[in-house]
Amino acid sequence: METQKRFETALLPANDAGIEKAVSLLRQGELVGIPTETVYGLAANAWNPEAAKKIYAAKGRPSDNPLIVHIADLEMLKSLARVRPQLAYTLADAFWPGPLTMIFPKAKEVPDATTGGLDTIAVRMPSHPVAARLIRESGLPLAAPSANLSGLPSPTKAEHVFQDMNGRIPLILDGGECSVGVESTVIAVHEDGVRLLRPGGITVEMLSKYCAVTVDDGVLHQLKNGEKALSPGMKYKHYSPKANVIILDGSPDACAEYVRLHKGPGVWAMAFEGEEKLLDVPSMPFGKRGDGLSQAKVLFDRLRECDEKGAKTVYVPMPEKDGVGLAVYNRLLRAAGFDVVVL
Ligand code: TXA
Ligand code: MG
Repeated sequence: METQKRFETALLPANDAGIEKAVSLLRQGELVGIPTETVYGLAANAWNPEAAKKIYAAKGRPSDNPLIVHIADLEMLKSLARVRPQLAYTLADAFWPGPLTMIFPKAKEVPDATTGGLDTIAVRMPSHPVAARLIRESGLPLAAPSANLSGLPSPTKAEHVFQDMNGRIPLILDGGECSVGVESTVIAVHEDGVRLLRPGGITVEMLSKYCAVTVDDGVLHQLKNGEKALSPGMKYKHYSPKANVIILDGSPDACAEYVRLHKGPGVWAMAFEGEEKLLDVPSMPFGKRGDGLSQAKVLFDRLRECDEKGAKTVYVPMPEKDGVGLAVYNRLLRAAGFDVVVL
């Protein structure tokens, strides 16, 4: 990989002065860490192939894993996507701005570096006021993957971005904690329905009110050797702390009993609210049982904490698979390398 240019990384509040600085850097083809409602993004001018290449270098990301392009209005969508099924406008009307990414055949003017060489483009209109303002004031669609080093948990706080990107980019804007906590829902949109490639804050249940939804096999299963991922990101190891993450599928008592039998130095657990008292290993709070929203909000922070605590093994209770729980389960499965113990 290309040697990194060393930057003095500024961490500024996302106020008028911070935004002005960010807009100027983005216009010069530089990278800026920005808040969105899902996770922090590593943003660059989507029209500039050199800027897009800097994203891959800063993240250590494989160059065939395409970026999501962030827009502020539907005019921008027109300039980026060659084909836009009517259904996309229905879904945009219902869920944009918000945590929904739609995939379209790309306009030929979009650089290959931005789409990882694919002839499709992933587009989303973020609802975070700072992200929206940066796009409007720069007049640029912003290519932005999550602002973590490739393979690590996505950042939900500006300090996470600083941990991963210090010295690699000139500026991070601090817009506080992300409200959703997991990355956007990614769908391929067709005339008559959508295929879910990555679950997120816009749930299958919400999409199903508007159209037929097919959940891609890759969402809950490991790709077999040689199998082609429809969303290239799904084939890479993801969200992994150094600790060995193991998902426990069972009642609170069965999980507690399993943890008791496996306790030892470096053994930690995540616990749903109120269930920590059943455990006799140290634990980290992991939202409420049956409430995917509360779990999504803390998941990546907790996965980063595993390393800060020097945990060797972390047992995590199985989330529900409906609503936002499906997104939590999808990320956890990858963090755990698909290691699930059924009790
Ligand atoms: O919430 C989010 O989506 C965040 C914030 C910053 O907006 N961004 C994000 O980007 O999660 P990233 O790069 O970490 O994940 C993008 C995912 C990857 O799995 C990638 O493979 C997939 O979207 N993707 C992007 N373009 C695609 C395309 N043309 N076809 C299929 N999958 C695509
Ligand atoms: Mg990512």
